[in-house]
Amino acid sequence: MTKPGTIFEAIGGYEPIDKIIDSLYKHIGNNPKLIPIFPDDLAESARKQRLFLVQFFGGPSIYNEERGHPMLRRRHMEFEVTPERKDAWLECMHKALEEAEIEEPYRSAIFERLVMTAQHMVNTRE
Ligand code: HEM
Repeated sequence: MTKPGTIFEAIGGYEPIDKIIDSLYKHIGNNPKLIPIFPDDLAESARKQRLFLVQFFGGPSIYNEERGHPMLRRRHMEFEVTPERKDAWLECMHKALEEAEIEEPYRSAIFERLVMTAQHMVNTRE
């Protein structure tokens, strides 16, 4: 079900999120700073990230049903997330939001939330 008044609903549901995910993982897969910590096959990573973003922006909570509480910082602890990698990830996401043609004010609202979340994921100094 799509709740009214959510970012998920405002941007148009699954279709724009799928575009963001396709573009995000294309960029991650080409980013020399990120490649070392991601699996070779990004399909499963993209699938989980898609479910997470749907939920994060107010869509159906399929991520939680499948994976339990996100505990994102804890799930990232096994990877070295340096400030440099955080910036690289956010750069990929910034391009993805542009390429998916997410309109303002949603594009900035989404990006700002992700900047905060990404900052929280940093667990290693350069
Ligand atoms: C700060 C830079 C970040 C780096 C370098 C990073 C890296 C990774 C890596 C290496 C994985 C494991 C491979 C995979 O299963 O995809 C992962 C998983 C994941 N990341 Fe990130 N990530 C970052 C930020 C974020 C942010 C901001 C979010 C949320 C908006 C996020 C959400 C997820 C989710 C949902 C998973 C799958 C967790 C699960 O196993 O259910 N990540 N990330």
